[in-house]
Amino acid sequence: MFDFLERIRRKEIVLPGKIVLLRTLGSRDFKKLKEWFKDPEVMQYGFGTKTDGVSLQVMVREYEKEIIRHRQNLLGIEVTGVGLIGFLNYFVNTLHAKGKVGILIGEKEMWGRGYGTDAMTTLLGYLFSELGLSRVELDTAYFNSRALRCFEKCGFKRDQRLTEKDAWDGKNSPKVWMSVTRAEFLNGHKTGTSDS
Ligand SMILES: CC(C)(COP(=O)(O)OP(=O)(O)OC[C@H]1O[C@@H](n2cnc3c(N)ncnc32)[C@H](O)[C@@H]1OP(=O)(O)O)[C@@H](O)C(=O)NCCC(=O)NCCS
Repeated sequence: MFDFLERIRRKEIVLPGKIVLLRTLGSRDFKKLKEWFKDPEVMQYGFGTKTDGVSLQVMVREYEKEIIRHRQNLLGIEVTGVGLIGFLNYFVNTLHAKGKVGILIGEKEMWGRGYGTDAMTTLLGYLFSELGLSRVELDTAYFNSRALRCFEKCGFKRDQRLTEKDAWDGKNSPKVWMSVTRAEFLNGHKTGTSDS
């Protein structure tokens, strides 16, 4: 109870989903993030590339800075009885009411159990209903079939766009872009079609 009130006082975000809880990350979460970032398989799916030691350290530091600054665009994914299993990030373009999102479940044994779909759906609900965005997009590696399926279940549709730039090691790594509008998301959720 105290923890919950303290979170509200610090203006932290707490968003309950059906099977996960999204919440602002804190410095106590660094250890987990570092573990996940050290796992080549997680990194390959999460960022579509193999990361070398240097770029990995840069990335870990960037995430740490975001967490220390209490930036609310980084949300942990928690499962009752398990703890933190991953995180989501989102960037908001207020001028165009657009957003870009990303997700990483670092606990590999938690993949394929519906947590990603629930976490992303919960975030989309927040971005469309609370922040009033009209469109949200993301990109993912072309080989990431699990992510593509998860995002389709959340209501995302594939765009024509395919980019080949890779942010971390400069190697070609085609990315598929997907997007969902507020109307599509809210309609899908009214009729339940986005989860089909
Ligand atoms: C991608 C990710 C967020 C998806 O979350 P998740 O909890 O594993 O996904 P869900 O269980 O909600 O949904 C996965 C769907 O893909 C299917 N799936 C699982 N493995 C698959 C595979 N290898 N190929 C194709 N589909 C697969 C599942 O059956 C499920 O679909 P269904 O409900 O129709 O059966 C999570 O796996 C993850 O973080 N992976 C590592 C990092 C990553 O890839 N991040 C995304 C970068 S954009």
